[in-house]
Amino acid sequence: MSEIAKIELEGKIFEFPVVTGTENEKAIDISKLRDITGYVTLDTGYKNTGATKSSITFLDGEKGVLHYRGYAIEELAEKASFLEVAYLLMHGELPTKIELENFESSIKKHTLVHEDMKRFFEAYPAQAHPMGVLSSMICSLSTFYPESLDPHRSKEKKELTMHRLLAKMPTLAAWAYKNSIRHPFMYPKNKYDYCSNFLHMMYAMPTEDYKVDPVVSAALNKLLILHADHEQNCSASTVRMVGSSQANLYSTVSAGICALWGPLHGGANQEVIEMLAQIHEDGGDVDKWVTKAKDKNDPFRLMGFGHRVYKNFDPRANIIRKTCDEVLAKMKINDPMLEIAKRLEQVALEDEYFKSRNLYPNVDFYSGIIYKAMGIPTEMFTVMFALGRLPGWIAQWKEMTENKEPIGRPRQIYTGETYRTFTDIEKR
Ligand code: SDX
Repeated sequence: MSEIAKIELEGKIFEFPVVTGTENEKAIDISKLRDITGYVTLDTGYKNTGATKSSITFLDGEKGVLHYRGYAIEELAEKASFLEVAYLLMHGELPTKIELENFESSIKKHTLVHEDMKRFFEAYPAQAHPMGVLSSMICSLSTFYPESLDPHRSKEKKELTMHRLLAKMPTLAAWAYKNSIRHPFMYPKNKYDYCSNFLHMMYAMPTEDYKVDPVVSAALNKLLILHADHEQNCSASTVRMVGSSQANLYSTVSAGICALWGPLHGGANQEVIEMLAQIHEDGGDVDKWVTKAKDKNDPFRLMGFGHRVYKNFDPRANIIRKTCDEVLAKMKINDPMLEIAKRLEQVALEDEYFKSRNLYPNVDFYSGIIYKAMGIPTEMFTVMFALGRLPGWIAQWKEMTENKEPIGRPRQIYTGETYRTFTDIEKR
């Protein structure tokens, strides 16, 4: 017999069904609450509210578990390619050899961007933040593909739009970087795999061949997989909310990019590196900065620390820390930021303030150190997060549209002025 939840309101008992997920997570289904009680719930920041049922990603914050479609992130990061994981997130199963070949060749076919879009870049100042450029460019794709404006037109058109987005975002991201340094744009080359193609477009010059470092390409593949999805985080929820109005996928993902930009979300990876550089320039006294992070009167926070869901370690941070050591050793880089980050982590994890609040390094704490070693400029770090998160956003949007979920429209509790009549300006 299915469980029920009983709520007593004004002397009456109301019963609501309990929903149990495949990993035994439980929720009270309050979809009829207002109809039968006249009450709504209030949960600022949705800390206790499930927005949907999803079969894409499972994470257990207490145990530090992260699974994409049932597969452990540790295995996928070690054994899969990023496009394999993108296919898994979007379609629910790992692709067969032929399915992956078809998927890869379709993506390769769409990596070019309409030549007219190159002119858009000319209008941006050199110091334009690439996240602002990327979100505009991704939304602008909808103006070149009018058939994408109706996301439900046909299964084939929907799949084509998803492939175009996966294919063109690395090109637009690399061109945003090239534009910021006023270097010539490099076109994608089909001889490269997804990650190597991006590195080629970032670093190659027309005047000479560029040799992709396999260490860097493999590290990028792992980082993109680690960022690929994370259930109902801020940007994925933004994508589901915007997509629920039946806006096209390009504009929906553009909104996700904007949400990710914030320093409390994906923008944290840029903040972390700037924080580590500040600590380094200040003499590397990590105790001083941990004290600042604990001081309620000091706006300084330990960026890259803490998480809404993980109240134990973030499994991605553990993998990225290990990858940091491997990549820097292979590239023979001795980055003082890594030592500062490790000392910062050690001091914080032994400190009561952080322990009592279950604050651990999150995915953003070490990722910037690897991006820096790969030659990625700091302002491009959150763009790298967006490149990784793209298949997750697409999968969340696809699931929401296929489940024909209603337009998102939360309720509120009004706390403003009650009715009052208009007063003429002379009497105010
Ligand atoms: C991502 O949701 C996802 O899945 C996100 C993500 C994904 O893959 O999509 O994992 C990616 O966004 C990771 C988070 C990146 N952001 C940062 O690293 C920014 C620094 N961290 C925080 O601002 C904070 O920890 C959040 C935003 C991540 C989580 O905030 P919550 O859950 O709203 O918790 P909170 O702000 O209410 O903090 C609880 C307490 C507070 O202290 P008290 O009021 O209890 O005294 O912990 C303190 C906070 O002041 N706290 C910190 C802290 N983070 C929380 N104190 C110092 N330094 C920090 N980093």
